[in-house]
Amino acid sequence: MSKLAVYFGTFIHSRSLTELKVLENAAVGVDKNGIIAFVEEKVDDLKAVLNKHKEFTSAPITRTKRGQFFFPGFIDTHIHASQYPNTGIFGKSTLLDWLNTYTFPTESSFKNLKTARAIYSQVIKRTLSHGTTTATYYATIHVPATNLLSTLCQTIGQRAFIGRVCMDCLGPEYYIDESAESSLAATEETIAHIEKIDPTNELLTPIITPRFAPSCSRPLLHSLAKLSADKNLPIQTHLSENTSELELVASLFPEEESYTHVYHSHKLLTPRTVLAHAIHLSDKEIDLIKQQQSKISHCPNSNTNLTSGFCKVRKLLDKKVDVGLGTDVSGGYSPSILDAVRQALGVSRSVAFLEKSPDHALSVEEGLYLATRGGAKCLGLEDKVGGFEVGKSWDVQLVGLNLVPELDEDGNLEDGGDPAEFAGTPECTVDVFGQTADWADRIAKWVYTGDDRCTRQVWVGGRSVVNKD
Ligand code: GUN
Ligand code: FE
Repeated sequence: MSKLAVYFGTFIHSRSLTELKVLENAAVGVDKNGIIAFVEEKVDDLKAVLNKHKEFTSAPITRTKRGQFFFPGFIDTHIHASQYPNTGIFGKSTLLDWLNTYTFPTESSFKNLKTARAIYSQVIKRTLSHGTTTATYYATIHVPATNLLSTLCQTIGQRAFIGRVCMDCLGPEYYIDESAESSLAATEETIAHIEKIDPTNELLTPIITPRFAPSCSRPLLHSLAKLSADKNLPIQTHLSENTSELELVASLFPEEESYTHVYHSHKLLTPRTVLAHAIHLSDKEIDLIKQQQSKISHCPNSNTNLTSGFCKVRKLLDKKVDVGLGTDVSGGYSPSILDAVRQALGVSRSVAFLEKSPDHALSVEEGLYLATRGGAKCLGLEDKVGGFEVGKSWDVQLVGLNLVPELDEDGNLEDGGDPAEFAGTPECTVDVFGQTADWADRIAKWVYTGDDRCTRQVWVGGRSVVNKD
């Protein structure tokens, strides 16, 4: 429960895949459950609005200052919380040797709950500080540490999908499930923990997590699909990330037509399945994913840095597959979804070049849609988060850009001072002296040059969870 609150000023959110909507002088009321109760646009007289919504007359008002705007919280549809200590450390490795060299040793250290507490607290706070209000986490195989991640998300206040990693094959001796049965039982324990601490899934949802096909036996894949069906739970896994991985899958599952068919045969392609990467797919595989209404988490930072390849996002979007963005920490080196937007735009331009077709390039608007409403759709949260509509949760970031002050008629700074002071400050300075950039330019500046310093305050479910001012 939080208190009634009113937010006033500039709000920006996606109207569609290709359009951002700027609401200036808007007022939004948020009820005690953190749900948006009213949205009033083009408000001349805030008092009159509050008189109309009587219970809000004495609610505190948070106003955007010049250069600030409310923006929906970001949604990270794929992040390994346990790999956070490894960000930036990958050398020239690619997926399969990266897993053995860097990933499994680090994940295995979460047997120690002190390690888990330190790292998990850090990753939750850090991602919130970057404006990520919903995160879809992979934990590790360890039940106590996975349960701790759930508890910490609830305590610190981040909406989260939390998956205990299932892997009864291919892992090293020191980091592997003993059997399909033990993997299933351990997963059930982590689901029971969330059912106990958050019975209505207010913030937390368990997510069934077969790591990827090569690390799961057929009985494990079958039993996890059954568990998801029995309990109506979402699923997350990796798909078609790296060409050596594709060869491995083909050798392990020779009876299957493709990597995607491995999951389909085991009933793991559901409307609640989030498939990370999905780079090297045939048209038939994309059509199968569309038919099953499964979702794709695009992880451009990881795909570039593990030399995995280029995901053709435009093709997925044209085929009406739902796509969200993932940081894929630590395949990706950044915990920021703003970075994922930027990298998605860059990768899409490389695809446009390679395919000799400018249509592949994504716009800033499209990138921000994927980061908010697109991610929400991937997680079945489209009625809950991603925009400013009545009935949605107040999962929001207050973004502040460093606008230069306005000039008076004589060309001097209105409040005095030296123009040089305002040139080149690192925090996303926009507007040229004497000219005011429009919101489209400001947003582009934010996407390409902004970072967590621009994220001034963050709320999840109406609760303020980050406040930098
Ligand atoms: N495939 C199987 N495990 C992983 C992982 O931890 N990260 C990435 N990027 N791909 C994987
Ligand atoms: Fe991953």
